[in-house]
Amino acid sequence: MRYSRPRGTRDFLPGEMALRRAVEQKMRSVFIRYGYTEVATPTFEHLELITAKSGEEILAHLYHFKDKGGRDLALRPELTAPVMRLYVNQLQNSPKPLRLYYFGNCFRYERPQAGRYREFWQAGVELIGPASPEAQAEVIALAEAVLRELGLRNYELHIGSVGVLRKFLAERGVAEEEQCRIMGIIDKGDRELLEEELLKLGLSQEERSTIAGVLELTGGRDAVLSKARELLGERRAALEELLSLEEILDALESFGVKYSLNLGIARGLDYYTGMVFEIYAPKLGAEKQICGGGSYSLAETFGGKPVATSGFAFGFDRIMLALQKDGVELRGDEGVQVMVIPFGEEYLPKAVEIASALRRSLACELEVMRRRVKRALSYASSKGVPFVVLVGEETARGRVLLKHMRSGEQREVEIDRLEELLLEEAGV
Ligand code: HAM
Repeated sequence: MRYSRPRGTRDFLPGEMALRRAVEQKMRSVFIRYGYTEVATPTFEHLELITAKSGEEILAHLYHFKDKGGRDLALRPELTAPVMRLYVNQLQNSPKPLRLYYFGNCFRYERPQAGRYREFWQAGVELIGPASPEAQAEVIALAEAVLRELGLRNYELHIGSVGVLRKFLAERGVAEEEQCRIMGIIDKGDRELLEEELLKLGLSQEERSTIAGVLELTGGRDAVLSKARELLGERRAALEELLSLEEILDALESFGVKYSLNLGIARGLDYYTGMVFEIYAPKLGAEKQICGGGSYSLAETFGGKPVATSGFAFGFDRIMLALQKDGVELRGDEGVQVMVIPFGEEYLPKAVEIASALRRSLACELEVMRRRVKRALSYASSKGVPFVVLVGEETARGRVLLKHMRSGEQREVEIDRLEELLLEEAGV
């Protein structure tokens, strides 16, 4: 009986895994260079943590279950809520700003397709403490720096604000819960339903068309901002939000980041309050969003003191796809660098000794199938192992045979110098 994988999940074979690790490593190195330190949280959480403020979109796609003690639990669909729970419970009194990064698997019960999985990985950051425009600009710049480090060429950064529309609605007396619902409808792109719902909330024709107009605004900074100001007219709170966005864009200038302004971004999560951004890799088609983030508020929802927070998460699997589509050459870990083969059982103890010594610095495989040298060599060659150490009668003179697999060249070398020679030749 063979078993297949659950729908929407994947296995990763060694070659692909090596590439994923190499890319993950690069992403981590950028996070670290921006002053972030890693945290990890459980794969499952109490269901209420996720339902507290994550939005319809995510809830509909949640994996949740009761455990044997009758507790309602959910597999995490994202990491911002877990990280903010961790912050409220354990890090509230730490010096600010707190810069936390994470890399972990997430689960969403969605219809699988290219770039959309039921288990996927996110690499993200949360910046806790500063509310300044430069702090938020730096979060955006960090996302961009990661893509530059990875060598991705085809991507578009779109920056917007959910604050503008939220404040517009708040000024009209629309409660927060209703605002979240409206933002969810906008995120799904259903403009007809939006019109209906706004009508139900009692918004006038003029107000509805102002909202529709603002949502359409996308393009260069100056054009979008002046049109938005014109549309918003005297709506004070919404205009203030627009001003905050402008300050972030000003701060972004010195980071040298290129972007489009897009006031139509609503995000699928309820906790966003102000600036939001998304990065798209157009070559990925329908699932082209490779990164999403913004400023949000969650600490007080989880019983903490209010604190300014912003962050983002990359869809790691989509990053891998985007890099491939862009033709970026990826190099994974080389795998086994040297194989040690004894000439028969009598040389096995010496071979073990040599392999153990080499493993201090090299990836070394020992022949443990008791194959004849010829067969072991053809295995090494089929695996692309670059060097083989043959352990035989030369050991009596403190020597072994070192074989260079690509050229076939073989020479006697001193055991004591073996590691040094291999490191030199393998270019480690
Ligand atoms: P999100 O936009 O829901 O935001 O997810 C972030 C990224 O995860 C998306 O841009 C996408 O690349 C990837 N992603 C989402 N669902 C899937 C899926 N089913 N398969 C493959 N990739 C997927 C968040 O999760 C926020 N927590 C981001 C954030 C951090 N905001 C503030 N801090």
